[in-house]
Amino acid sequence: MKKTPVCLYLWLWLLPASVQAQGGMWLPLHLEKQNEKEMRAMGLKRKADDLYAPNRPSIKDAICQFSGGCTAEVISAEGLLLTNHHCAFSALQRLSSLERNYVEEGFWARSREEELPCPGETATFVVRMEDVTALALQHVTEGMSERDRQSQIDKNIAQIRANARRERWQEAVVRPFYHGNQYFLFITETYTDLRLVGAPPSSIGKFGADTDNWVWPRHTGDFALFRIYADKDNRPAPYSPENRPLRPKYFLPISLSGVEEGDFTMVYGFPGRTDEYLPASAVHQIAEVLNPTRIAIREQTLKILDRYMRSSPAIKIAYVARYASLANAWKKWLGERQGLRTYGVVGKKQAYEAEFTRRISNNPTLNVRYRHLLPRLNETYREIEPYAEARENYLETFLRNIQITAAIANVASWLAEYEKGQIGTFSARKTEIMERMRAGFTGYYLEVDRAVFAALVERYAQTMRPEWGGAFVRQSAEQQGGFDALALHLFATSVFTDSMRWNNLMSLPTPDSIARVLQRDPFLLFWRGVSTPYNEIIGPKWQELQGTLSLLQRQYMAAQLEVFKERRFFPDANGTLRLTYGQVRGYSPRDAVRYEFRTHLDGVMEKYIPGDYEFDVPQRLIDLWKAKDFGPYATRDGRMPVAFIATNHTTGGNSGSPALDAYGNLVGLNFDRVWEGTMSDLYYDPAICRNIMVDVRYILFILDKYAGASHLLKEMKLVKTK
Ligand code: ARG
Ligand code: GLU
Repeated sequence: MKKTPVCLYLWLWLLPASVQAQGGMWLPLHLEKQNEKEMRAMGLKRKADDLYAPNRPSIKDAICQFSGGCTAEVISAEGLLLTNHHCAFSALQRLSSLERNYVEEGFWARSREEELPCPGETATFVVRMEDVTALALQHVTEGMSERDRQSQIDKNIAQIRANARRERWQEAVVRPFYHGNQYFLFITETYTDLRLVGAPPSSIGKFGADTDNWVWPRHTGDFALFRIYADKDNRPAPYSPENRPLRPKYFLPISLSGVEEGDFTMVYGFPGRTDEYLPASAVHQIAEVLNPTRIAIREQTLKILDRYMRSSPAIKIAYVARYASLANAWKKWLGERQGLRTYGVVGKKQAYEAEFTRRISNNPTLNVRYRHLLPRLNETYREIEPYAEARENYLETFLRNIQITAAIANVASWLAEYEKGQIGTFSARKTEIMERMRAGFTGYYLEVDRAVFAALVERYAQTMRPEWGGAFVRQSAEQQGGFDALALHLFATSVFTDSMRWNNLMSLPTPDSIARVLQRDPFLLFWRGVSTPYNEIIGPKWQELQGTLSLLQRQYMAAQLEVFKERRFFPDANGTLRLTYGQVRGYSPRDAVRYEFRTHLDGVMEKYIPGDYEFDVPQRLIDLWKAKDFGPYATRDGRMPVAFIATNHTTGGNSGSPALDAYGNLVGLNFDRVWEGTMSDLYYDPAICRNIMVDVRYILFILDKYAGASHLLKEMKLVKTK
């Protein structure tokens, strides 16, 4: 094998240690091999096998995936569970009524009896993980078609799961890593009897709401508490009044000592998805084509929603959650696009690819195997671009922003059963369809959705290729005399926009009679006009090219692992347990601006706008602030800390993840990133990428001084390290 030129190693050595050190969502199983040395150099005082051990209690036993999308951690010997307020939001909403609004007012159980069951919420722990790559790829050969390869792997995985050593109540799952180059088996346990223990009012737990979302400096007390209950043998069991608080294998001690700039921290949790190994051409496409499409569409929707929400308190209540969720991704994409541009990520990736090409061209074996990869990736990304853009345009417009077309799409798939002659399936799905429509009509404001529709279809007519649905939309509007007129017409005449018309339709006696009305409905016909080109042209072509890309990405990943042997690669996030580590650190978002690493209660008061739905502050908190009644939770200079930032590499799914100090004590609760650094899903740059955590002392202060829940503090193990 050809030797790597010395100058390259030199270049790597010359990188400051902190730059090399940061970024990455590492596999707990490989910490000892890949990270321990570096972590200890950065300040870790524990051993890798204190963080993850398969056969004895370790820190990983305190960490669980919360209800599929968030992370949570056990913080007492009696199953007390900490996660974010925004992760508990839907549970709080479901438990609330007009008389008892737990979202607005918060909730504190004074005793075990008052803890509220939360059907649907789950806590999944990883018992152990194993590398099963060899078994998963058994009988997989290079010349196999993708389809044969996948079906062989599926067979192997079924075998691995069947043979996995596990207890009766445990599950075995196998997941691909490194774009399908490695496979890991996870043995997990899922608890389903979770009960709400406490949550602050929104004016603390969601302070700053959408305006402050993704923003530093931040002042949100984004936390909530649950308790896990288990059966008499301490095992997962469905809700029962007989169940008892879980006696966990491990729970996190909580540090009262706080963190200072430069301190080592780590975040342990379940990051959802990253794409760190895309070629420059794909990153360019995301930054310059796909994100701008999504951003432009949401911008229009959000403007319209905002106008209506300001005009009517009823609309405000009905749309606040929808607005928050549309705005959350919108703001993230804006930050991502800006970060990718400002930090020249495409250029950096190109330089990396040039080095890749240089290395393989010096090595005939590697060259034969890998030289086609980058050209083919670039070519395929170029080829997929118009389809990917059209797909984004279609999905964003009709399935995510306009409400009515998302509902119609569902009914159209139902009608398709009828048209295929599947009358049995058609009849069987009727209840589900009616339930979804009923849910859709609650809190639905026709005038709001109609305004969104009129604006977005006009944009669609301008941006979608004529033969892909653009011309159809334009002609539909022309027939009615414009886009507003088209909207008025469709919303005035369709069965989908009026619950009375819809209910009448549903009371028709036969599938035939229902189908006949649906087939003539003007909105359903409109929907067919836009969805047919998607289903026949855009979707299938995108799917086909995506298949090619996933094959090429798999090979490119394997090539990078082989060609850059001196580098460490972490696998892209895929919703499995990971550890990331870094240092507490402020940052400079723009020229001449420097952000400090910590915020304080004083900052809450600076942002305070009495009566405002985002920036109101509860009187009790104001009183505590005035009296400086901070108990043992203040910083050394007597201020109440609220949040802090660090260079941990996190993403969606890390919400609720514990931030641990060098000893493994809980110091913070992860809940967000700074928006200038959201490009970290594609490229991590330690200059700008920061995760945001609630300072655990703020959580203790709120529990103790604000909520008077000192009985909860007694359960916890509070420690001091300084
Ligand atoms: N940005 C955080 C995340 O991605 C928090 C979202 C919830 N808060 C909100 N204001 N929408 O999930
Ligand atoms: N708020 C995000 C979540 O719910 C975490 C923030 C991020 O994307 O880093 O998972």
